[in-house]
Amino acid sequence: MTNLSTFLNSLKIDSRSSLLLNNVLAPAFIKIRSTIESSKGGFSDTQNSSGEKQLKLDVATNNVLVDFLEKSQLVHSLASEELDEVLKCNERGDFAVAFDPLDGSSLVDANMAVGTIFGVYSTGNNPENFTFIGQKGRNQVLSGIVVYGPKTTMLLAFPGHGVHLFELVLNNSSAEFVHVNGPISIAQDAKYFAPGNARACADRPEYLEVINDWINRGLTLRYSGGMVPDIAHIFVKGSGVLTYPSYSAAPNGKLRLLFECNPISLLIEEAGGVSADGNIAVLDLKINEIHQRTPIFCGSKNAVNEVCNKLRR
Ligand code: AHG
Ligand code: MN
Ligand code: MN
Repeated sequence: MTNLSTFLNSLKIDSRSSLLLNNVLAPAFIKIRSTIESSKGGFSDTQNSSGEKQLKLDVATNNVLVDFLEKSQLVHSLASEELDEVLKCNERGDFAVAFDPLDGSSLVDANMAVGTIFGVYSTGNNPENFTFIGQKGRNQVLSGIVVYGPKTTMLLAFPGHGVHLFELVLNNSSAEFVHVNGPISIAQDAKYFAPGNARACADRPEYLEVINDWINRGLTLRYSGGMVPDIAHIFVKGSGVLTYPSYSAAPNGKLRLLFECNPISLLIEEAGGVSADGNIAVLDLKINEIHQRTPIFCGSKNAVNEVCNKLRR
C-alpha cells in the first residue's frame, strides 16, 4: 500500500504542494471526519453569503480548515463558502485555497454521505498582487474532493498527472490516506446519470426530455443529492453525467463556481471528461465574485454535449 506521502514523492510534484496536501489538508480532512462523527446537529444562528442557514457543523468544519491552513504559513489567502470575505493569511504564502468545507451538510442528519471540496491556486512571483477575482478555474494547480461515507475517500487532480483515488485507512491510533487507483479516466458515454435540480423541468421541458431520453436509453439513475458522492460515483464507476441547470427561481443555478464547480471541473477534465456551464467550459469562466454561482453539466463527454445542446435551443 502506497501512502499519500510516498505517492506524492513518486509523482515528483513540487515540495510545497506536497507539504500542503500531506501535512495540512489531509490532517484537516481526518479532523473533519471526526468532527462530523461526534456532532450533535442543529443550526447555528448565522447564515452564509448565499443566504443559506448555517448548520453548527458547517461552522465547525469551516473552522477546522481555516485553522489548519492559517497555521501552515503556506497559504496567502483563503475563500470559503461559509465566510463572507476572503481571509488573508501569510502575505508571502505560495497558495490561495478555496473550499466548501462540508458540501451537502443538510444530508448529515439522514446519515447520507457528505464531502469537502477544495481548489488551490498559486500566488506566483507576486503574492502581494494575488486575488481570486479575475482568476479562472484553469489556473488551479491542484483540486480535490473528500467523501465522508461508509469509508472516507479522496480524489485528487494533479494537472498533468491525472486524477487519483485515495482511501483513509484507520489503524488503532493512526490514520493515513493510501493510494487506491489512478490515473482514472471517464468514458465518453455515460452509463449513469445524476439529474440535479429536477425542479427546473417545470419551466424547462427540454430538461425533462433529456432525462426521459437517458431513462429510455437504459442509463441508471444514481443521485444522492450530495454533489461530492455523486461525482465520486462517476470516477469510481468510470462514467456518468451530473447536471445542475438554472431555472426561473435560480437564474444561475445553485452551485458556486469558486468553491464547488471549479475544483470538480478540474477533476473531470483531468480524467478526460467535460464540464460546461451550458455554453463554455466551467474552467474558462472568469471569477467576478467570490460567491458567484453557475449552472454545471459534467462527466462523460457525449452526455454532457447532449444536455448542453438540448438546453441551448
Ligand atoms: P451545500 O454546500 O449548500 O450543502 O450544497 C449542496 C449542493 C450539492 O451537494 C447538491 O448537488 C445540491 O446542493 C443539491 O441541491 P438541491 O437539492 O438543494 O437543489
Ligand atoms: Mn456546497
Ligand atoms: Mn457547504
